[in-house]
Order: sequence, then C-alpha cells, then structure tokens
Amino acid sequence: MSKNTKLWGGRFEGTVEEWVEQFGASISFDHQLAKFDLMGSLAHVQMLGQTGILSLEEAEQIQDGLQALLRDLEAGELHFDIANEDIHMNMEVLLTEKIGPLAGKLHTARSRNDQVATDMHLYLKEQLGHVLDKLANLNSVLLDLAEKHVETIMPGYTHLQHAQPISFAHHLMAYYNMFQRDSERFAFNLKHTDLSPLGAAALAGTTFPIDRQLSSDLLGFQQPYTNSLDAVSDRDFILEFLSNVSILMMHMSRFCEEIINWCSFEYQYISLSDSFSTGSSIMPQKKNPDMAELIRGKTGRVYGHLFGLLTVMKSLPLAYNKDLQEDKEGMFDTVETILNSLDVLAGMLSSMQVNKAKMQQSTENDFSNATELADYLAEKGLPFREAHEIVGKLVLDSIKHGKNIQDWDLKELQAYHPLIEEDIYIYLRPETAVQRRNSLGGTGFEQVKYQIEQAKKELKGEN
Ligand code: ARG
Repeated sequence: MSKNTKLWGGRFEGTVEEWVEQFGASISFDHQLAKFDLMGSLAHVQMLGQTGILSLEEAEQIQDGLQALLRDLEAGELHFDIANEDIHMNMEVLLTEKIGPLAGKLHTARSRNDQVATDMHLYLKEQLGHVLDKLANLNSVLLDLAEKHVETIMPGYTHLQHAQPISFAHHLMAYYNMFQRDSERFAFNLKHTDLSPLGAAALAGTTFPIDRQLSSDLLGFQQPYTNSLDAVSDRDFILEFLSNVSILMMHMSRFCEEIINWCSFEYQYISLSDSFSTGSSIMPQKKNPDMAELIRGKTGRVYGHLFGLLTVMKSLPLAYNKDLQEDKEGMFDTVETILNSLDVLAGMLSSMQVNKAKMQQSTENDFSNATELADYLAEKGLPFREAHEIVGKLVLDSIKHGKNIQDWDLKELQAYHPLIEEDIYIYLRPETAVQRRNSLGGTGFEQVKYQIEQAKKELKGEN
C-alpha cells in the first residue's frame, strides 16, 4: 500500500481512494475563506512569536511567507488542490512550498477546528457589515420615495379588499420599519460573530502558554470565547444570520408581491423601469416584473439553508464533528443572495414610476370612505354600532343601485339618518379621510411627515 502523504497521514497505513477524498473535501467552496484563513494565521503566528512559543525570527519568517501568500491570493495566483482537502491544509502546503519545513511550526497550539471557526467568524463579520450598509441604502431609497409621496393617496387593504384610503408614503414607511428591525437584528448578530475561537485548539485548549486575548485583539475581535468546547462547536452566529436573512427576505418578498400586483394591468399603480423588467419570448406586449419575482422566489432557498443548518446542528454532540463542514455552502449562498437582492430591490424602487392618478382614482370609486360616514355619525353622538349598521345598509343599497356613497344627494342620505348634513361630502373625500387620521402612527399627512423626520434622524444615527 502506498504511503499516506496527508498532513495528518502519520498514523495511517492506507490511503483514501480519490472519489472518497472528493466526498470529504471542502476546498471547492471553502476557498472563499482564503483571505480570512491567512489573516487568522498571521495573528496566530504573531502571538506565537510574542509569547516566545516560537522564536521571533521563526515567527517573522512564517509571517513573511503568509504575506507572500496573501499577495499571491490578491493577484489571483494561488492554486488549490483537492488532494489537500480544505483551505487550511492547502494553505499549509503552499506555505511549505514558500518557506520550507518551518511552515510546520505554524500549527503549534492550534487545530483546524479553531482555525475554521475563526475563518467563519472573520468572514461573516465582514459580510454583516456589507448587509448593514446595503440595508441602510435600501432604507434611504425608501425614505426619499416616501418624502415624495406623503400626499399620494392609495387604497389601504385588509384581506386584499379596499379598506380605508392611506398615504402611499405611509405604506412605504411600514417597510422602512420592518427593515430597521432587520438592521437591529443584524447588529445583534454581529455581537455573537465578533468573538475569537482561536486558541481553543482541537477542543480543550492547549498546554502551550498562548495569549488568546492577544490573537483576538490582533484580529479585531471584541473578545475571545470563554469556553473552548463552545468555541469550536458553536455555529449559532451562522444560524442567527440565516434566520435574520430569512426574516429580511420574508419582508422583501411581501414587498415584491405588492410590487408585482401594483404593476399588473388591474392595478397600474406603478411601472417598473426597463432596466428592472424583462420581456416575453412569445408575447411581444409583455413587460414582466421578473426581478421582484426572483426576490420572492429566492426567499425559498434562504429558508432552505436555515433549515439545512438547523438540522445539521440538531443532536450534534460536542465538540467538533465533520458534519460542521456543512455549515458553509448555505451560508455563502445566503450572503450572495441577500446582497444581490438588497441591491435589486433598492434599484427597482428608485427607478420605478408611480402612477399617482391611478392610485387616487381607485379610492374614489369604492366604499373605502364608509368608515368616514360611520365615524361622522359616532362623533355626533350616535353609538358606533348603530352608525355601523346604518352605513352597512346604505352600502348595500348603493351596490344595488350601482352608486357610491357620495353619489346620493343630501335628502337621500338624510333618510338613513337625520344627523347627516351638507359637510358630509367633504368628509367622504379620500384626502379628508387620510388627513384626519392623525392619531399617533396613523396615516394622517402630519403623522406621516413626522415618521419620515424621525426616520431620517434614525438613519443618520441621531436618535
Ligand atoms: N474543512 C473542515 C470544516 O470545514 C475543517 C475542520 C476540519 N477538522 C477536522 N477535525 N477534521 O469543518
């Protein structure tokens, strides 16, 4: 049997067949951690030098080798080999090619278990920064749009039925609030990602006099993990990320569903710019909201990744198990999906056209002003339940006669209740209905302007 030449090959007499090796290898995807693996190694070796575990000269030579690898990586000149299984062993082999057997000292007081966890923390910390930036950008696009549409009136819906007229800006600001909560969740996620597992070694710590605080500081982490077993087996920070992205995608998917409805022939509330629409290969007239549909559709794969990892983690005994290698592909895909989706949604919103007239019209030919009449009577002292009953009857009669409430003349309306007077026609206008809903957080113009002002301060970090 041929000698086992793996970095861990010492206790082996046989070799693994190539197809089995491929099954176990992760380099085809964990190469995305290359930069972070080098950063982790640089901090580790600096710590080994400063604590005297390696001589300063040894540490410097290893650092020079790692820096050279970093330059090669940036130049696109690093080539990985599946025979070396994963990013960590590929890097060690490449370092050995650069500086010879001294490379073997880098792995003193370290294991791939704390190494891979460190890489993942560094990677996700960087990506969380991008997600937060893109979310802030999306919300500033929403704020700009809301500012332009405080007085644009649209039907507010419940059960997808016209309910009461609202300001379009109010509708947009509902999403602003959802996305702000998403930001807060990611900021909290950052707290659990900003921890250093380095120095936990395989599972139990090490006999070498390492300085975990130093390597944590060198890597810019908030602090080292407290427990070495937890450090190498914790993937909560990735699960939190996947669940936060799931909630964010759910919000985006709801928004996209509305966008898809709004640009249909039935609504015609908006039209998407050509740069965010596609045509049909058979129907020449088509302009499809594909990008909104794709965001809605991609929500499914993110949920899948969350459930995939939750299932991997379920029942996993402490500490490291190879199952944990399955934490990566779903996370990488989720990062790519969310960063692209955030850009696409922001671009779609900033370039779409809003058909104010069409929105307004659909509040004029419906019964979304029925509550106004009921409130009007209640304000004049009639118990609300009675007012509700009377207006319900009036709506029924209106439907039978093909009319809206405001189409009846005053005498006819007074037949339903004598408290109704000439000013009712003002109350029945959609603008009045919106403008008067000035309760805190309501759709009244003043309230919406207040929301926007507060949100602007919030985005600038002023409150
Ligand atoms: N490629 C491995 C992973 O992603 C690295 C850690 C391997 N550790 C081990 N003890 N086999 O999880």
